[in-house]
Amino acid sequence: MTITESWQGEQLLNNASLKVSLAGLNLTNPTMLASGILGYSAETFETVAQGGAGAIVTKSVALKPSEGYSNPTIVQVRSGLINAMGLPNPGIEEFVKEIRTAKAVLRIPLIVSVYGFSAEEYATAAHKAVAAGADAVELNVSCPHVKETGSEIGQNPDVLTKVVHKVKISVEKPVFVKLTPNVTDIVEIAEAAQKAGADGLTLMNTVKAMAIDVETMMPILANRIGGLSGPAVKPIALRHVFNVYEHVKVPIIGCGGILDWQDAVEFLLAGASAVQIGTAIATVGPTVFQKVTRGIDAYLKRKRIRSVKEIVGLSHRS
Ligand SMILES: Cc1cc2nc3c(=O)[nH]c(=O)nc-3n(C[C@H](O)[C@H](O)[C@H](O)COP(=O)(O)O)c2cc1C
Repeated sequence: MTITESWQGEQLLNNASLKVSLAGLNLTNPTMLASGILGYSAETFETVAQGGAGAIVTKSVALKPSEGYSNPTIVQVRSGLINAMGLPNPGIEEFVKEIRTAKAVLRIPLIVSVYGFSAEEYATAAHKAVAAGADAVELNVSCPHVKETGSEIGQNPDVLTKVVHKVKISVEKPVFVKLTPNVTDIVEIAEAAQKAGADGLTLMNTVKAMAIDVETMMPILANRIGGLSGPAVKPIALRHVFNVYEHVKVPIIGCGGILDWQDAVEFLLAGASAVQIGTAIATVGPTVFQKVTRGIDAYLKRKRIRSVKEIVGLSHRS
């Protein structure tokens, strides 16, 4: 990161028109790091904050450590990535040390993504994360490639309700629920999450996908099936945000294929109050947050709009 870039980042910190409030969390701008793209270290989170992110979501962490799947776990395809990491994580007991270190230096909200194999496991992981200083939790009920967790929970409104409810009574910080696009009716799931007490919804996790090597004639990923992210999924995510916005009152965080400010503005117009960026970090680097934010700022000025909040859901007017 250059001195000019970090100076411009500081300027953006004080720009009132970009500030967003998300279920009580105050963000200096509407961009956030999406879960899973950059691991668990406090040092990495600090780099992302310097890159201009308004908030950070950690990689998903569970009660017990997991090594995840063997390689290959990621394959690049046209306009995106397919990953099946298998939710590798150090376990919440180990991760609380990073949460404490990160909280000591970060000036932006830290949201810890948690997963589990039962409502109790989600709640215990969330409780420990909040006790260590997390400003909020995001429930990964949407990972498409690990059995008995992730999307197997987020595809069933009854099971999802139990998980969200249990977490809500275990923590006193905002609870965001990250939904899967791999369902027939995402509105039914979104409404169940809201009814169970979700303070916000993240839309969306990856789209179930695969790639085959024509030479070996075998699936490329060790797990065969993974989740597609990146520009290829943006129109799908956008449509889900647009659709869900018409049925829920809680804030929506748009996520899926955001690469530049135009993508982010589309999500805001569709009804997202903030956006998460993941795969684009691999192509643009950690300054993607600052670049997107600067683009949003210039757009608001050109349109003579005073606050980013004013464009949320604007595409729904008839
Ligand atoms: C390598 C990789 C790892 C991911 N790990 C997680 C994870 O641990 N938890 C989670 O909720 N989402 C995870 N995701 C999904 C992203 O957070 C995001 O929902 C998805 O990639 C779509 O956004 P994007 O197109 O900006 O990447 C992962 C995505 C990628 C590419």
